[in-house]
Amino acid sequence: MLDAAKIRRQFPLFSHYPELAYLDNAATTQKPKSVIEAITNFYEKGNANIHRGVYELAARATQQYEGVRGKVAALINAPKPETIVYTTGATAGINLVAQSFLEPRLQPGDEVVISYMEHHANLIPWQMACKKKGAKLRVVPMNKEGVLDLAAFRKMLSPRTRMVALVHVSNTLGAINPIEEMIALAHQHQVPVLTDAAQSIAHFPIDVQALDVDFLVFSGHKMFGPTGVGILYGKEEHLAATPPHHFGGDMIRHVSFEETAFAQPPQRFEAGTPPIAGVIGLGAAVDFLQTLDKAEIQQHLKLLARAAREALARIDGLTIIGNAPASTAIVSFVLENIHPHDVATFLAEDQIAVRAGHHCTQPIMDFFGIAGATRASFSVYNDLEEIERLAQSLRGIQQFFLG
Ligand code: ALA
Repeated sequence: MLDAAKIRRQFPLFSHYPELAYLDNAATTQKPKSVIEAITNFYEKGNANIHRGVYELAARATQQYEGVRGKVAALINAPKPETIVYTTGATAGINLVAQSFLEPRLQPGDEVVISYMEHHANLIPWQMACKKKGAKLRVVPMNKEGVLDLAAFRKMLSPRTRMVALVHVSNTLGAINPIEEMIALAHQHQVPVLTDAAQSIAHFPIDVQALDVDFLVFSGHKMFGPTGVGILYGKEEHLAATPPHHFGGDMIRHVSFEETAFAQPPQRFEAGTPPIAGVIGLGAAVDFLQTLDKAEIQQHLKLLARAAREALARIDGLTIIGNAPASTAIVSFVLENIHPHDVATFLAEDQIAVRAGHHCTQPIMDFFGIAGATRASFSVYNDLEEIERLAQSLRGIQQFFLG
């Protein structure tokens, strides 16, 4: 059994806000002391640029920065540290693959498949690539529960399909998609797949080799690490076939005024001075995650997911958006006749932090015929008492608005 209270004590923010029910983990997680210290220590005792200096500080900074690749590779069972590219976040990773990997091989009439429940970050980059090249964006439909239509997906795959991009866990519905099966189906047609693991990396064991996924992206800040840093995993052959996305220092083999020879991956994708402290903080976040038992995290999140859905379902006039049988502890809902932003504002007065709005998934809002929803999203430091508080506060809000 995961000890949520013990984990919570490792997060300094909660000592400053002891009453806070932080239920906005899908937006960003809080940071454990070890991550904050790793960043502070770097700036206090280790700051230097990487790959450039020969003095001790520079060598140590380079070693720390490069060392995190191996930690991330171990976390997702990537075959080599060189398959791990540092980015500024999941969004940057998707843009890199859409613009540098896909675009050059996309022809008019080709197709790219995404799902109905993609975050805008896993929709717009593909939409833009399709518009530019005269290709077609196809969308796997879902039902009202928030379950993707696999039969429709199967039918969509054809010799014209050039790429499939799928979210693992929906940031709005909490639905867990059967990515393993979908990747296997796409591969039957030799179609590469990118998986957006932004919402799953902190809570699910991910094995890129077992999944056989071609690209996987996630952000550091949703897995207890800092903002401004993320990961793109790519199969070695795909990264080798992908030209750089940005150009500048520290990504070349040789430059003259006539031409440039680029470095091998991953360096060719990391132009300019990268977020060195961020990468080191991400390494500490991986270490933190590795101290937790993966099965216990799963069990805890399942418990919270079930409790939250049950507690909210008992509230008259509350509708949960999506109810997929396979879903995790992200629950979006609307209260009849009360605006989601009013709900979030009133919850904030009761020290409950949630997000309200369209959650960067406007097609999902359109599908359910709503302008927005309030979302509670949970992590390893949340507990059942916070769910009670959420339900109680929601009843109070109804009382206030509707009498
Ligand atoms: N993508 C983040 C969310 O869902 C910011 O809130």
